[in-house]
Amino acid sequence: MQARTDAVTAAMDDIRKIEVDLGVTREGVQAIRDRLVKLSSHRELFPSADFPAPGSDDEQSSFLYRLAQDSDDRFALYAQSSRGQVETPVHNHTTWAVVVGFDGHEHNRFFERTADGVNQVDDHMVEAGTGVAMLPDDLHSIHIDGPALNFHCYGLALERLDGREYYNATEDTWKIFKGISGIREGRTDLQSC
Ligand SMILES: [Fe+2]
Repeated sequence: MQARTDAVTAAMDDIRKIEVDLGVTREGVQAIRDRLVKLSSHRELFPSADFPAPGSDDEQSSFLYRLAQDSDDRFALYAQSSRGQVETPVHNHTTWAVVVGFDGHEHNRFFERTADGVNQVDDHMVEAGTGVAMLPDDLHSIHIDGPALNFHCYGLALERLDGREYYNATEDTWKIFKGISGIREGRTDLQSC
């Protein structure tokens, strides 16, 4: 547990420095992604037993475990553990965002805004050893089918992202995500207190 705390702390220290050195730029978020890929290569630090996915009785199909977050809510890292199908609408984040794979597959699709909605411009299958990096206005959607564990990192904690837009394809309109709740504590240094 201490080894995980130390590895996560070292990664987040580097990520803070990357943001200072490179800013919130394409180069900067890609460097953050690469640092998190390096963290995720320490496979022994993240046993699946520590991040159980929801059971069949749970309403949710995925749980978020908080692994890091500064006292001012910046630099938040989560492990997302999912059991089955997870689909998100197209959305932005209003802060930089990085997804890195660990177990399973998370299909990320990328979009641009158009006059009448969104248009897919790219996609990437996030799996162990790979990741994607987004600037605050970048648009993506997530598609998971099957058990998966992935790392999600944001410039600001998810509970603070109260202006994230998503595209409601049924109503053909942009809406604001409701606040996220139910994040589980995954910081080993806090669990032991
Ligand atoms: Fe996202």
